[in-house]
Formats: sequence, structure tokens, C-alpha cells
Amino acid sequence: MPIFYGKASLMDYLKSIQTLHSTIGFVPTMGALHEGHLALMQRSLQENTTTVVSIFVNPTQFNNPEDLAKYPRTLDQDVAKLNALDPTIVLYAPAVEDLYEGTPSSEHFDFDGLENQMEGRFRPGHFNGVGTIVKRLFEIVTPQNAYFGEKDFQQLQIVKKMVAKNNLPVNVIGCPIYRESNELAMSSRNERLSVEERAEAALIYQALLGARSQFATKSTADIGKWVTKYFDKNPRFTLEYFTIADEATLVSCVRKNKNKKYRAFIAVLVNNIRLIDTISLN
Ligand code: PAJ
Repeated sequence: MPIFYGKASLMDYLKSIQTLHSTIGFVPTMGALHEGHLALMQRSLQENTTTVVSIFVNPTQFNNPEDLAKYPRTLDQDVAKLNALDPTIVLYAPAVEDLYEGTPSSEHFDFDGLENQMEGRFRPGHFNGVGTIVKRLFEIVTPQNAYFGEKDFQQLQIVKKMVAKNNLPVNVIGCPIYRESNELAMSSRNERLSVEERAEAALIYQALLGARSQFATKSTADIGKWVTKYFDKNPRFTLEYFTIADEATLVSCVRKNKNKKYRAFIAVLVNNIRLIDTISLN
């Protein structure tokens, strides 16, 4: 498969294969690839003449240095997975210096308040880092279509907002969450869980299912209390936040409005490893 470590050679290559009717589909990742990532790539392969995947652990979106240091880096295995999926995939796997000059830093973005909710509240600066790198990658790869997972629903909404506000010529396509056999949402961070923790982490999605089953009949405050109790009974897991929010604005729902779409969002720490998940409620 074609692999590029520098943006200049990637851009030259993409220009050389472009024709009147070709389209570029793009799947940005931080590597440690799993089935969830591969599902996004499969969708891109079906819908585009060229699929570009990036693997880059972006330092500016990590607010916790330990999380950045411990983030799995498995390029050789990732290349093997990409080759097995489809050897026509074009891989861009740059070093930090190819994307940042000097000490990496973020641009500041205004995402109309989307950045202040949930992950934004608990991970200061995270979405400025995501915005900075995704914008830069879009400029380099120039995709018509870009694929993002609903697992990071807030990220998906933020990328859509950035594209709309800057009039970028990219369709941002959201894809369903891919789960392990016990329904734990697949994540590169799952690699850091012990076998027992990974099995027990099934309770995160169970909590979301419980919230969904109560959504029609209970207040969001009561559902929140139920989720808090649920995690109090499982001391290995620390609930960082649970919230039911409007899908469009991500603002927490106090009183339900039947014309709006709602989702539950959760972040849980197990052994200092942070796991997130989300479910549509109506
Ligand atoms: P990363 O966590 O590697 O995820 C890359 C893409 O895969 C994201 O769009 C994410 O939502 C999606 N994804 C991860 N797990 C998934 C699952 N279980 N089911 C479906 N999709 C899943 O998200 C990032 O990287 C970074 O923030 C990035 C966008 C690359 C910017 O650095």
C-alpha cells in the first residue's frame, strides 16, 4: 500500500492520481486500529475512488500528558490491518514535525458553545486541538468526504460546525458505533484494560440502555440519579459525567421537548483509563 510520512509527497501523489470524476474519502485516526476504525474505512472505500487514512497521535488534543504518553502506538500492526482490508488505501503517517512547526500548539475555535459541554468541560483545550488538526489534515488531503464515528458524537458535531463555519468543501459523514461482543464500544484505549476490566466495562452500555428504557417515563434528573447509583454500586468504575442532551446543541435537557432529538452521553474512569459512550434516546 502507498505510505507517506510527509505531507508534500502525499499531496503530490494525490494530485497525480486525481481525475475529473475521482473522489477522495478520508478517515483520520490516531492508530491502534480496531474494527470500529475499519468500518469507517469500508464505508469510504465503497463511496470513493480513493481512500486516505491518517494515523497521527495528535499532541494538542491531549490535556493529560500521561494519557498522551500511554496512548498505544502500533504502526506495524496498523499497516498490516490496512493492507488486509484493502491495499489501495493510501496511508499518511506523519511525525509531529510534519504537522506542527516548533512546539505544537492549537488555534482557538468558536464552535457556538458545542465545545463547552461534556468532553470540553472535562478536557480543557481538547476541541481546539481536534479542530486544529482536522482542519490541517483536510487542507492536506483535500477530501470530498470525511468519515467520523458517532462514538465521539461531540467531536462529530464539532467537525460539522467547523466545516459549516469555514465553508470547507467537505461532506462530514457520521457512522454508527462499533461494539465488542459484550457491547463495550470499541476504543483504542480498551487495549489498556485488564481482561476483567474489559469484561466488566460492559456495564457502561448497560447503564445507557437502562437510561433509554426510562427516558419516556422519567425525568432526566431522576435518570441521572439512577445512573449515579448504578456506578456507586460498582466501585471499580468512577462516573465522570452522565448527561442527557439535545443532539444538535449538546445542551443538557432539563425538560423534554418532543420535537427535539436527545442522546445520553457518558464518561467513566476505570483504573485511570477514560471510556466514553453514547446512545440515541428518541
Ligand atoms: P480515534 O480515536 O483514533 O478515532 C478515529 C475515528 O474513529 C473517529 O472518527 C472515531 O469517532 C472513530 N471511532 C472510534 N471508535 C469507534 C467505534 N467503536 N465505532 C465507530 N467509530 C469509532 O477521534 C480521533 O481518533 C481523533 O480525535 C482524530 C479525529 C483523528 C483527530 O486527531
